Amino acid sequence: MRTPLVVANWKMHGTLGEARALASAVRDGLKRPRAEVVLCPPFTALAAVAEILAGSTIGLGAQNCHWETQGAFTGEVSPAMLAELGCRLVIIGHSERRQHLGETDALVNRKVRAALAQGVTPLLCVGESADERRQGLTFTVVEGQLRAGLGGVSPEDLGRCIVAYEPLWAIGTGVNATPAQASEVHGYLRGLLSELASKETAQAIRILYGGSVKADNAGELCREPEIDGALVGGASLQAQSFIGIVRKAAARGGSHPKE
Ligand code: PGA
Repeated sequence: MRTPLVVANWKMHGTLGEARALASAVRDGLKRPRAEVVLCPPFTALAAVAEILAGSTIGLGAQNCHWETQGAFTGEVSPAMLAELGCRLVIIGHSERRQHLGETDALVNRKVRAALAQGVTPLLCVGESADERRQGLTFTVVEGQLRAGLGGVSPEDLGRCIVAYEPLWAIGTGVNATPAQASEVHGYLRGLLSELASKETAQAIRILYGGSVKADNAGELCREPEIDGALVGGASLQAQSFIGIVRKAAARGGSHPKE
């Protein structure tokens, strides 16, 4: 079955010293995690964190990328540059970028395809706002974002993508979606992925939940068969809380694995 995946999204946090210390503590606390673990520091700390993680099972990822390989795009970083640094994954279409930086579905789609072309796994984020949920638009919104974000991606490449369901009302608020709420949307997304690729491919694609995931709620969320792990913001900035989440996700309802 799908290997659980826990991704740390450090957002715009951390000096180089802090990034090194956090990455070292996570690495040392998770010697043999039974989940795949990826840390996404800010661009400025990628090289330093890559050094810390070298030789460990913990992977490196980035929080964003551009859609071209190189060019006159001041301030941007291409997926080719991320690949060179050893990033195995890149978060694309995070709601904070959609909200504060005007990222559209069309841009998100170009980035997804650019990442795939460079062999970097896109982690596509989708999610509805509180208003949209109140209006009963959750499925419409996430469907639009999923179809647009993955438009033009071949069924084979779809199998290399990861999706994160992150309801906006749950991000950084301390109010997580309930396991039932998340599971319902994950199931819906998996149904759409079956249509876009095939049932087999959709069964293999990991769909993560994100939004106020903590060590206390990660267990009940990740016990849901449709929830394949977590995209963690705030709680990933403390090694112990992040390690706690990884253990819960890895257990998937069983006993906690010994690291
Ligand atoms: P949070 O953020 O865990 O702090 O809610 C999640 C995210 O934005 O990816």
